[in-house]
This record gives sequence, C-alpha cells and structure tokens, in this order.
Amino acid sequence: MTQDELKRAVAQAAVAYVVENEIVGVGTGSTANFFIDELAKIKHKIKAAVASSEATAARLRSHGITVLDLNEVTSMPVYIDGADEITPQGAMIKGGGAALTREKIVASVAEKFICIADGSKLVDQLGRFPLPVEVIPMAHTVVARKLNAIGGEARLRLKDGQPLITDNGNMILDVHGLQIADPVGLEALINNIVGVVTVGLFARQGANVCLLGTETGVKTLQF
Ligand code: 5RP
Repeated sequence: MTQDELKRAVAQAAVAYVVENEIVGVGTGSTANFFIDELAKIKHKIKAAVASSEATAARLRSHGITVLDLNEVTSMPVYIDGADEITPQGAMIKGGGAALTREKIVASVAEKFICIADGSKLVDQLGRFPLPVEVIPMAHTVVARKLNAIGGEARLRLKDGQPLITDNGNMILDVHGLQIADPVGLEALINNIVGVVTVGLFARQGANVCLLGTETGVKTLQF
C-alpha cells in the first residue's frame, strides 16, 4: 500500500470516533486532509467543526462544513489529527505543517485526542523528526541559542527562501539532533524559554487513541 492509501485508511477509521450532533476538532496536514474528505460524507451528522489552521478551515468550508471559532465552543468530544512521530506511550511530535500552536489549543479543549498516522510515524523514542518550536519573530535568534544549549541544532524554517510565517504571525525553529528521553520534561523546559510560543511536543497531554495504518490493516493503540 502507498503512504496515501494508509493515510486514507486511518482517516476512514477515524470517522467512527466522531460523535453525532457534536462539534469535532480537526487537525492539519495531509492525513487530516483525508479525514476532512471523509468527514464531508457525514457532515449532516455533526454540529460543526473547529479548525487548527487557516488551511484546514478553508478545506472544511469548501466541503460545506460549518467552522466555528474556538471562543464559541465549550465542549468537544474529540480532536482528530495526524502526527510527525508518536511513541507507544502516546507522546507526539507535531508541527511539520507549522500549525502546532493552534493544534495544541484546540486539542486542549477536546476530551480525547485521536491520532491518525501511517505506521512510519511510530517510534520508540522521539527526536529523529526535527522538533518544531513556534517563536515570536524578534526572539528567534535568542531562542535558537537556548535550544542549541540544551543539545539541539535549531534551524529557522524557510519557505521560498524567506522565514515561514505561521497563521499566528510567528516563526518556526526546527530543532535537529535531539534524542528525547523525557518528552514531558522537555516540553515544560522548552515552553518556559522566553520567546517560545509553543513547542511541538504533545506529551503532557498526548494522544488517547492512535489509529495506525499498516500493511495488515488499521491498528488501534489506546493510551
Ligand atoms: C501539522 C502537523 C501534522 O499533523 C503533522 O505534520 C503530520 O502531517 P501529515 O499528516 O501530513 O504527515 O502537526 O502542523
């Protein structure tokens, strides 16, 4: 199976976790896009969606799905999103699509985080995928030095030769070379650096369920 077929399979499996007549939180990225296309098929069964990025909001709306501002929402049974890496304990690296801050905010409101990923994302230890950190633009070199001091190599993410600007008007540092033995501790440490908006470690509040696409079918990991 191709990676896209595995992503489509987990996106289809995730539909079973959508709660009827409720609001669903929707992530960002290629796997989340497959999920949005599946969600469109049952859009009459949900109240609305909350998006974790402008791109996701646009795709949801293009399918005729109502998108609510998070400030209008008080409860959300599930948040469904992809990941760049996930451990057998449910800790994740996210932010490959630069949407980590909104993803973490929307996920924090949901009762359950349902991670959808192809099998290549399952790792014993996080860190091979460069860890994204959203930073306030005026602080990117200051923060980069501090991230380097904890053992990484921070590189400013570029798009078309210019610093990538997030939906929130910030920049992304991708930290290479970290071997993350204590994801909860590192999440707190990096979030405490002045100038950091959010680190793309989802460990303190990780996934509750991971639907993993494999050659032998969709495996369900519960955390
Ligand atoms: C976006 C994310 C994505 O969930 C993550 O990058 C995985 O993306 P994909 O489904 O395209 O592999 O965190 O910020």
